[in-house]
Amino acid sequence: MSNEYIIVEQSFGLSGEVQLTGAKNAVLVIMASLILTSGKSKLKNVPASRDVLHMITLLKDLGAQVFFDQEKNELDVDTSTIVHYNVAPEIMKQMRASVLVMGPLLARFGCVDLALPGGCVIGTRPINYHISNFEKMGAHVQITGESISARASKLEAKKLILEYPSVGATENLMMAAVLTPGTTKIINAAVEPEVLDLVKVLQKMGADIEVVPPATIQIKGVATLQPIKHEVIFDRLEAGSLLLAAAMTGGEIHLPQAPAYALDLFLFKLQEMGHKIEVGNDDIGVRLKATKSPRAVSFKTGPYPGFPTDLQAPMMAAQCLASGTSVVQETVFENRLLHVRELQKMGAQISVQHNTATVTGVEELYGVPVIATDIRASCALVLAGFVAKGTTVMSGIHHWRRGYEALEKKLAMLGGTIAFQQHASSHIKGCDSVEGIKKRVQL
Ligand code: EPZ
Repeated sequence: MSNEYIIVEQSFGLSGEVQLTGAKNAVLVIMASLILTSGKSKLKNVPASRDVLHMITLLKDLGAQVFFDQEKNELDVDTSTIVHYNVAPEIMKQMRASVLVMGPLLARFGCVDLALPGGCVIGTRPINYHISNFEKMGAHVQITGESISARASKLEAKKLILEYPSVGATENLMMAAVLTPGTTKIINAAVEPEVLDLVKVLQKMGADIEVVPPATIQIKGVATLQPIKHEVIFDRLEAGSLLLAAAMTGGEIHLPQAPAYALDLFLFKLQEMGHKIEVGNDDIGVRLKATKSPRAVSFKTGPYPGFPTDLQAPMMAAQCLASGTSVVQETVFENRLLHVRELQKMGAQISVQHNTATVTGVEELYGVPVIATDIRASCALVLAGFVAKGTTVMSGIHHWRRGYEALEKKLAMLGGTIAFQQHASSHIKGCDSVEGIKKRVQL
């Protein structure tokens, strides 16, 4: 566990206009899809988050040449030099999304060797839908201990049925199918905005791929695919987090780039709480003016266009001080309520039954030492810290760094008191002054 912390002080009225970064859950799979081409591609709006750096390491390990201009958020990738198809175990372990190179490597080389991506705190994260459908396409997959080897002399176009609209399985199978002669259909596919951004990238490469409503993705294999230039969609999860920061602290915020079209149910729930929401033309851009007396709302996570599981924890934090009772049901991951324990430490009144948390609004939360258990839990705890009396000291901030590019800077710009801190032992014991934080730590 690193000895670095995020310190958050009670903050009021976070307000202003903020620019968004590109979506982590789009850019990672788009970077993997470049393996399908042999040449130089350019991606814009690439967030400088730890997971992106991990995916760069993986592509370089395969032989690609990668240059990342973190200032301009532009990534140049030359995949003509990719020479092999095995991913080092230590790279696989760093990031589950590494499994998304399986489809492209199978399509390009007919071979792939990698380690099982492993589970994480929010669930065992199996990849059985990926593997069973690769096998249906003619791949021979062998799992020995922690490693997976897949061989396919020729992938075959098939009708692939997903019993659950898995985002990763949909993406992996699409990428395996785009160079496979014939028509592949993915039934009950995931249609998250990040999946559709990948569809757009594959179409730019020259793939013959379309989404047939309600949720079938049809792919007609082509012979080759070309390198592309693409601007990654803005991150709806970062947008949701920033909107909640203003909503919870009584502020007013404008996100001119926010993909409101990808946040309908989330925005609907914020309005149900009493917050004033305005959406820009063509469903791009969101303005929020917080209500002074938020009402608790209930919600259930689900596949898109349902309530996003990645906004469940931050939205739960917003229920802790709302008036009334909120019932939060997590249906996507089997263990994604670990942030409840941490919110309880701050004084939140929450009870849990199986995959359902019941939150009863309280008058006050208190800043205490808390532990982030996953990317989105880290966001929930920072937001709770802004509305808690005193100082919240959050450890486990590698999760924060994995998922966001400097979100703490944006929150500080809005008026939030938030800072990184080495050795926050002084905080662990008691509260610290705002001045003390600002003096000691420059964001
Ligand atoms: C993607 O994960 C996202 N990650 C997740 O974001 C997101 O929460 C999730 O989709 C759901 O929207 C990336 O895009 C990198 P799934 P993924 O396959 O693809 C089960 C974040 O915080 N399942 O749709 O792994 C699985 O266990 C992360 O940014 C199987 O059982 O999600 C889970 O319960 C967290 N077998 C459910 O399906 C399989 O073969 C949804 O998983 C595959 C999945």
